[in-house]
Amino acid sequence: MAAPDPCLLVILGASGDLTSRKLLPALYEQHAAGNLHPRTSVLGVSRRAKSDEAWRDELAEAVRSRVANFDPALWATLAPRIRYQAGDAARPDGWEEISARIRRESLADECGNLLFFLAVAPELYDPIVAAIGDSGLVPRERRACLGDPAAPWRRVIVEKPFGVDEPSARALNQRLASVFEESDIYRIDHYLGKEPVQGLLALRFANGIFEPLWNERFVDHVQITAAESLGVEDRVAFYDQTGAIRDMIQSHLLQVLAFVAMEPPSVFAADRIRSERRNILESIQPPDVERLEEVAALGQYAAAEGSPGYAETEGVAAGSTTETFAAMKVHFDNWRWAGTPFYLRSGKRLAAKRTEVVVQFKAPPTNLFRTLGQDAEARVAEADRLIIEIAPQSRVRMRFAGRAPGATFSLKTLEMSADFGGRGGGAEPEAYGPLILDAMRGDQSLFKDREEVEAAWAAVEPLLGAASQDLRRGIAGNYAPGSWGPESSKLLLGRDGRSWHDDG
Ligand code: BG6
Repeated sequence: MAAPDPCLLVILGASGDLTSRKLLPALYEQHAAGNLHPRTSVLGVSRRAKSDEAWRDELAEAVRSRVANFDPALWATLAPRIRYQAGDAARPDGWEEISARIRRESLADECGNLLFFLAVAPELYDPIVAAIGDSGLVPRERRACLGDPAAPWRRVIVEKPFGVDEPSARALNQRLASVFEESDIYRIDHYLGKEPVQGLLALRFANGIFEPLWNERFVDHVQITAAESLGVEDRVAFYDQTGAIRDMIQSHLLQVLAFVAMEPPSVFAADRIRSERRNILESIQPPDVERLEEVAALGQYAAAEGSPGYAETEGVAAGSTTETFAAMKVHFDNWRWAGTPFYLRSGKRLAAKRTEVVVQFKAPPTNLFRTLGQDAEARVAEADRLIIEIAPQSRVRMRFAGRAPGATFSLKTLEMSADFGGRGGGAEPEAYGPLILDAMRGDQSLFKDREEVEAAWAAVEPLLGAASQDLRRGIAGNYAPGSWGPESSKLLLGRDGRSWHDDG
């Protein structure tokens, strides 16, 4: 794998939550692992006036509280490469100082490679990209750099949500294309940076035993869950405009689904993987707007002792129908999966923080142990289940039925389990780190292309628009914190004679 190029990483939205909670801890971890080029540096841009030192101090605290084994001496070797520039990046006149500083920093140290990271509120993407275009920092013709034969590059990482619906995603794609080449646009989804998510590709395609069974003939259904125990915390302003479908389903869960459902690429290469992900997302059957309650369930968490419900949270609009829980049933129009539903769900304030994929294979054609009674029936029903845990554990478990010890014949549930991440349960590195390094080395495999993003919006569109009003009626407080979501979510599977894998 190519080493990451040196560059100036310009983080637009330096004072934001994402920068302190995810980006800087990720960069620190990569620095600690020796993966950052020694000439790479960071310039944070935000409106608030602040010195380089003040920002470094803030970040040191943020990083210390978030990474395992923070080493102050190591931080001291990274800190001088972290700088700060005040400025309003969404206004063209804000760019005079910003671009002067970028030119100073990047020409001095990094041979001119520039990686912009849009870590701002999504409504600012368009004006910021336009202002970057106007600043002249992204010339269409690349100049040779300080004697380096390779021309310096200009790339941009765009955080999710990428637009708020399909038309706005198209408009944003057009705006980005007016400034950057497609090969320089990195639409990030940090779930693709998670090792266990990438592990899905290894599990499916580095082994011969799964693929022959991985289709509608042998798979009864698939469940993909991303449950969180926390509420919306201090992101109310963003969340109330966004909701679980835009925040989690359209992006993270559909990406996980793409890795579970896609066809094998002919080779492990960026363009092949991206094109298979795009194909599978494009073959999702759009939900029937007349029968949305049969394919989706929405919810909002209720109050619990000591904590307000979503609807009563300060900053949430009166009568808000923004969903903090969403479940949906996905059908594919393709040969591999026609007739096999994929159930997706995600929510805040649920019973646990858990991200997992459950592949339920079909039961034997007849249960010859039915004569042994209900218990045997239950053991057979929960067998043939592959559980791929992504968080908090990262492991894969195969559940099957076996003979229980004892003089009389009875069945019991058995499991084989393997540590997926290979860290023996240790913390995974922050998923943003490897993705940012990929952008620095020019590898787009784990980033979304424009059609992929648009296809993902098309798949959820009916659940967002006016057609979803009925689904949203009366959702305030329709699930208890600490539960697995509203009754309608249970019903979504119940109607099909199935149930969620909630038993751990
Ligand atoms: C973010 C969402 O993209 O992903 C958050 O905006 C969510 O609402 C987070 O909490 C979950 O990420 P992870 O890696 O903790 O599963």
